[in-house]
Amino acid sequence: MLGIIKMNYGLTQKPTLSASECLVLGVFSDVELSAFAQSLDKEHQGLISRLIKKTSEAGDMLWHHDLHGAILIVQCGEQGKFNPSQLKKRIAEVTGALIKHRIRSATICFPQIAQYSADWQLEQMIIQMDNQCYQLLEFKKKKAKAHQLESVTFYLPNANTEGLKLGEAIATGVEFTRHLANMPANICTPAYLGEQAMQLAKEFAQSMNCKVMGPEEMRQMGMETLLAVAQGSAQPPRLIDIHYKGAGDAPPIILVGKGITFDSGGLSIKPANAMDEMKYDMSGAASVLGTLKACALLKLPVNVIGLIASAENMVSGTSVKSGDIVTSMSGQTVEIINTDAEGRLVLADALTYAERYQPEFVIDVATLTGGIIVALGTVASGYMTQDEELAKLIEEAAMESNDRVWRMPLDDEYQDALESPLADMINAGFDRTASSVTAACFLSRFTEKYRWAHLDIAGTAWVFGKNRNATGRPVPLLTQILRHASNSR
Ligand code: BES
Ligand code: MN
Ligand code: ZN
Repeated sequence: MLGIIKMNYGLTQKPTLSASECLVLGVFSDVELSAFAQSLDKEHQGLISRLIKKTSEAGDMLWHHDLHGAILIVQCGEQGKFNPSQLKKRIAEVTGALIKHRIRSATICFPQIAQYSADWQLEQMIIQMDNQCYQLLEFKKKKAKAHQLESVTFYLPNANTEGLKLGEAIATGVEFTRHLANMPANICTPAYLGEQAMQLAKEFAQSMNCKVMGPEEMRQMGMETLLAVAQGSAQPPRLIDIHYKGAGDAPPIILVGKGITFDSGGLSIKPANAMDEMKYDMSGAASVLGTLKACALLKLPVNVIGLIASAENMVSGTSVKSGDIVTSMSGQTVEIINTDAEGRLVLADALTYAERYQPEFVIDVATLTGGIIVALGTVASGYMTQDEELAKLIEEAAMESNDRVWRMPLDDEYQDALESPLADMINAGFDRTASSVTAACFLSRFTEKYRWAHLDIAGTAWVFGKNRNATGRPVPLLTQILRHASNSR
């Protein structure tokens, strides 16, 4: 793929100074050097112990260059306080330092976190490292400066290639998602998403196939809520139906992604400030494709269907108007009182379409509401479900993948906000209260035929502000859910 530098990851049982340009050694402040570090220390006449003495706090880094190469000492602090979030920070700092020093190959020797398996730690380190190395240079004509790092070898005595494989697959899925999400909306249109899905299916032709539908097919199926969102745009909408088959005839797990390639708000137009960020409004769709890619790389024994409802929400003479009433594929009528509540409209028809596959369960992934950012910020994705078993699966997978979630309510009482005097429902509440929950309530009306959960990733899918960038979340979470589902079979 253009603009992405492919990283090589490996494992070693015997790290040496000369094996790569830089040896990174993470140490604890309150624990003796590991056997490996001790032998390295001896080999170099006590150099390592002397260097360590110059570090004190977690995060301190010290470079040493000599004829044999470079050593980077990283202080990891007290052993008892070294946890997954500390590891994440340290790896991010190390990666930044390696890139800054134009290092091409590195060997990373980090201590193991207590109570976590070595394979898990390896997986996390690869994902974190890869995240940090991601660059999109395609549009930089001047001053494009690609990082030099291309090969990273880990030393983690109890880890094996399973962790390596997992980390690499998830990192590849995350990269793909970030790449799609970062693409500007003049390139990443619904048609482009469709082509990318087709290409993905072609890349994994043995396990995947894909069908992309346009407005004609949508009209035939009665997808008026999806078409209503698309009708103001010059870009025709797409419904992507992509299948990964890894478990024969088992009922599929369906991931439904919101694929609004640009959300201007429509006639209920958004303010100009940061409107460009609305190119990320297809992050749910991108994460579905990224997860399918990880899943195919891992050859998970599970059946997964990705459904993506993609459209551009624009302002024109043909735009849907506030107050218009349309009939969804489910037969229920919707009064569109706010054209900026478009995500739920495209998802509604995709969720109804999902019924035909009699899924094991369905999870939709969407940058659905600004309200979820108010509630949870950028740390946890919000999820809603009335299925306790599914809630447990999501919670566990979130813990294991370190891709955090927080459950929001979905009580029937919130449904009242969607009552319409004219139609079966309005598409948004009249006030802004609990807007993330009313959005989920709206979706729930199209999911009665199967087990379902909704993931609102508006706060977690990209980093806001000047350094805006897609995060690739929740690919790690979704992949973990699929791994779980495949194990329980
Ligand atoms: N794509 C937005 C949600 C969003 C807002 C994501 C800001 C990330 C950052 C969604 O389509 C939207 O506009 N939601 C409205 C719903 C409202 C009109 C009921 C919102 O949350 O304001
Ligand atoms: Mn909107
Ligand atoms: Zn939107």
